Amino acid sequence: MPDNRAVSAGVGTVLVLNGPNLGRLGSREPEIYGAATLADVAAACADLGAELGLKVDVRQTDDEAELIGWVHEAIELRLPIVLNPAAFTHYSYALRDALAMRTAPLVEVHLSNPAARESFRHTSVVAGVADGTIAGFGPQSYLLALRAIAGLLAPPG
Ligand code: DQA
Repeated sequence: MPDNRAVSAGVGTVLVLNGPNLGRLGSREPEIYGAATLADVAAACADLGAELGLKVDVRQTDDEAELIGWVHEAIELRLPIVLNPAAFTHYSYALRDALAMRTAPLVEVHLSNPAARESFRHTSVVAGVADGTIAGFGPQSYLLALRAIAGLLAPPG
């Protein structure tokens, strides 16, 4: 089947992908998710990326199909991913199956600590196909994940 999807990210880019409701950061349950907006998180990621020599492409969608399309794009271009799957974390086998095909490092992130919250958040169907998970540090979770990606990309030695 021909692949007509637009490929917009270049080699050397880290995709920082965000799932549903994360576009509302700043006003969404600030007592849990904090006051920073997704634009604030994106700016902090871009700053750290520049320091680490990584180009950072931050995206957010409420749509499972769009998120999976971005994962396919990363697979084709061998791009590392920092992923906050939001609620998809807990039940999206389709997202998990897409991530299982990854061709570059993958770090799962969460602003909150799902393990300390409702029981439905204690399961991540994504964690088993990621290099690791960073949760509970607010926007800092993303920055720690970018550092982890930089470490995973660094040649051994
Ligand atoms: C979240 C945690 C998820 O349980 C929740 O559904 C989210 C955000 C986090 O970043 O803490 O949407 O992924």
